[in-house]
Amino acid sequence: MLRVEPNAATLGATIHGLDLRQPMTDAEFRAVLRALGQYAVLRLPNQHLHPRDVAAFSRRFGRVQTSVSGKYHHAEAPEVGILSNIVQDGVNIGIPDAGQDWHTDMSYTATRGFINVLHAVQVPMRDGQPLGNTLFADMRAAYDALPDEWKRRIEGLTATHDFNVFWQNMVNRPGSTRPPLTPAERAKRPPATHPLVLRHPISGDRVLYCNPGYAERINGVSDAESTAMLDFLFQHQLQPRFHHAHHWQVGDLLLWDHLSTLHNAIADYTAAEPRLMHRCQVMADQVFSPEFQHQWLDAA
Ligand code: OGA
Ligand code: MN
Repeated sequence: MLRVEPNAATLGATIHGLDLRQPMTDAEFRAVLRALGQYAVLRLPNQHLHPRDVAAFSRRFGRVQTSVSGKYHHAEAPEVGILSNIVQDGVNIGIPDAGQDWHTDMSYTATRGFINVLHAVQVPMRDGQPLGNTLFADMRAAYDALPDEWKRRIEGLTATHDFNVFWQNMVNRPGSTRPPLTPAERAKRPPATHPLVLRHPISGDRVLYCNPGYAERINGVSDAESTAMLDFLFQHQLQPRFHHAHHWQVGDLLLWDHLSTLHNAIADYTAAEPRLMHRCQVMADQVFSPEFQHQWLDAA
């Protein structure tokens, strides 16, 4: 029997009673979707999965984004990307520095990201404690905590999100090996515009959809006002009271809702402490479609 055990914080729950080597039943899928709408970050511990199982599970939620660069995907399951600091024969086996600052995946694409699915294969440990935590920030709570005046001010406004904002911040870090994007690479990822206030497709709640990783401009206001508003919103949404830290264990399958969270991968481990994650990124195409809403969310 599937059981949802909420964390003490508003964000996060553990799901017991599912073995993802088997396909979920419709009832299980509904229960996972509801839990996702309510808790946003779901941990399924002790999952012993082939990357193909990770892909099959992820596909239930929508279109899985395949790697844009064609690099770092699993040979037996191309939808599965590899995040890792492991180097074999002088070559990185995965993206070594993914997500190492606050951001929301795929906010820079016209179809936003919906969920990430990460399966922990190797977790760095030191003195019995896991390293490489992933931090989350709750954007439903952040919206709710906005002063009324700000809720009114941002209702109906949009922000432009650009992949290059995050990329360039990484390039500028001391010791970075990332080259700046070429014009051709930038052209492949044109900026996208999204409302600042989003009605969540599962919970129906309002969430603040904005993140310091990619949001670069609030539209319809002056440059100075856009900068001042973004400064306020970034500072507001990053307050520790909205945070939840996930401490990884090998075998954790973590799925999280991008529409209502930010996340940040903490790089507190060294090259001698290997970390290996298998990842599927699912786009928010199907979750906003009327058919999906009707089939999975309207019915009791
Ligand atoms: C991601 C990401 C976090 C992590 O997969 O999008 O940011 O902890 N990763 O690896
Ligand atoms: Mn990310």
